Amino acid sequence: MRLIHAFVPLIGAIGAVASQPTDSWVFGDSLFYLGPPSGNSRITKATYSIMPPAVPSGAKASTKDEVWVSVWVGASSSAGSQDYDLYQPLFNWSLDQESQGCSASVEEWCVAASTYTPDGQVGQDYVAVPQNTTVDFEIAVEGKKVIQTVTIDGEVVSKQSDTLDAALQYLYSSNECYTGSGSCGTLAGYSIKNLTVTLSEADTGFADVLSLDSVTDKNFKSTDGGITWHADWIKVTSIDFDSSNDTEVDA
Ligand SMILES: *[C@@H]1O[C@H](CO)[C@@H](O)[C@H](O)[C@H]1NC(C)=O
Ligand SMILES: *[C@@H]1O[C@H](CO)[C@@H](O)[C@H](O)[C@H]1NC(C)=O
Ligand SMILES: *[C@@H]1O[C@H](CO)[C@@H](O)[C@H](O)[C@H]1NC(C)=O
Ligand SMILES: *[C@@H]1O[C@H](CO)[C@@H](O)[C@H](O)[C@H]1NC(C)=O
Repeated sequence: MRLIHAFVPLIGAIGAVASQPTDSWVFGDSLFYLGPPSGNSRITKATYSIMPPAVPSGAKASTKDEVWVSVWVGASSSAGSQDYDLYQPLFNWSLDQESQGCSASVEEWCVAASTYTPDGQVGQDYVAVPQNTTVDFEIAVEGKKVIQTVTIDGEVVSKQSDTLDAALQYLYSSNECYTGSGSCGTLAGYSIKNLTVTLSEADTGFADVLSLDSVTDKNFKSTDGGITWHADWIKVTSIDFDSSNDTEVDA
């Protein structure tokens, strides 16, 4: 999996196209970007819940080179450098779910704890997510480890522990499409709910480093002087992956 680029201005309206090149990574322009905290403060924990939207509509693939779409929130020491780990429990969907070793139907998402590393993606087996199910996520630093925990209805369905490569300073979201032999279609909007981010040291200005790119949020604030930060929700808009209006392409 590829990382998003650090905050690129929207350029879509200029020379918009209605299809994307094959074998490309396409990133939806509706995301948030949080970090870094000031001084020596670091991110020690993030929790949030996502009910994934309906699976993408209008996706097409003509060969075994599958399209897939992934939705995630990830934490990293860097703002998007591919040289650092990105702890990113993720939803994944493709027209052929079995190709990713997931027992979900084509109408459902799969989910797994997963980490991008410079040496490749290290993830757990995918678990099917029944339609309209809220999934709870936790990314927590414990000593020199990062523990990702994915929970459905109070039951842990996926968990991964990795060595922390460097202290976490960023948390950001992405909607990612790999076009493969075809195109990813349209992803409906969804919300990242009950987002709580815990810092190692108080940073009363942490809300100033929350960037919203075509998303809206409810009330990102701290009630304990800057250690714990909470937003009721961050609302991600619908993305037409096949239109350059809504996306950035990394061919
Ligand atoms: C891109 O956006 C412009 C302006 O809203 C619109 O006129 C155009 O139809 C859109 N193009 C595509 C491919 O969606
Ligand atoms: C999603 O599943 C496809 C196979 O269907 C796989 O090739 C791809 O690597 C998976 N994406 C991620 C981010 O793991
Ligand atoms: C999921 O929610 C959508 C939209 O509310 C609804 O149309 C659909 O029937 C629901 N699916 C299930 C399996 O409950
Ligand atoms: C919101 O998140 C907090 C912290 O993870 C958790 O204790 C609480 O139960 C969650 N609230 C809801 C409504 O899920």
